[in-house]
Amino acid sequence: MYVYLNGKVMPKNQVTLSIDDRGFTFGEGIYEVVRVYGGKKFLLHEHMERLRRSAVEMDITLPEYFSSSHVEEAIDSLIEKNGLEESYLYLQVTRGVQFRSHVYPENMEPTIVMYLIGAKDWSLERQGVPAAIEQDIRWQRSDVKSTMLMPGTLLKSRAAREGCFEVILERDGIITEGTSNNVFCVKDNVLITPPLSNFILPGITREFVLRLAKQLGISVDERPIHVSELSEMQEVFITATGSEIIPLSRIGEYKFDAPGKLTAKIISAFDDAIKDLRET
Ligand code: PDD
Repeated sequence: MYVYLNGKVMPKNQVTLSIDDRGFTFGEGIYEVVRVYGGKKFLLHEHMERLRRSAVEMDITLPEYFSSSHVEEAIDSLIEKNGLEESYLYLQVTRGVQFRSHVYPENMEPTIVMYLIGAKDWSLERQGVPAAIEQDIRWQRSDVKSTMLMPGTLLKSRAAREGCFEVILERDGIITEGTSNNVFCVKDNVLITPPLSNFILPGITREFVLRLAKQLGISVDERPIHVSELSEMQEVFITATGSEIIPLSRIGEYKFDAPGKLTAKIISAFDDAIKDLRET
């Protein structure tokens, strides 16, 4: 397997990382996951824009060599060398290497890693999956795509042992998002999703789905959703780069149509867009 480290594509067994990397000692890292369909990178520009924003917010200076064209060439090389045309590109940037100290100096050289993971088939999950609901115990900057994911891994692993696919998070009775996806509800043919704030990740798939909904003439309402309102929702689905659009059959005790009519319409428009991408 070939991976990317600090500017170079190399065999994975030649990679060495320092135990003094602040990504390891302090969990200081940001990341992106980009879907590759038929060798084509889907919404790469949007993912790179979000990565650059995460870097600014976390006071990480991306190196000069890490230009958009450099990243694109590196990803193409990974796809070709690994023969993985259907995959997820994982890109992680840490603050870099420094002997353990809370205070970091200016001008640190970040550690940058990229690798591909073979894509999974989600057709079974597209029939509807159950989710749990838990308190959002993450920090107040969930708008940054940070690798500090322990609240999510704890909650999602516990829920998985109880047969749930995802955990929907709530803060003071208001739904934020899933541990690794954004949430949409359908009520009387209106698509409702929580508005962007510091408590949710501005999902690239969320934005794409909103665009599709507008093209389909579906009414969209970006507004806070109270947990108690779930009893009035007919359909719920979650969105993420990896799993695309997954209908939820229930959240806790609240049950929904899965896949509901409007959800199916949006999934179909999403699939058409991917088909077009493959054919261009
Ligand atoms: N997860 N919210 C959270 C907390 C996420 O971790 C993700 C993505 C999303 C959806 O964002 P996007 O549509 O840009 O993928 C929302 C990635 C895919 C992951 O952790 O693997």
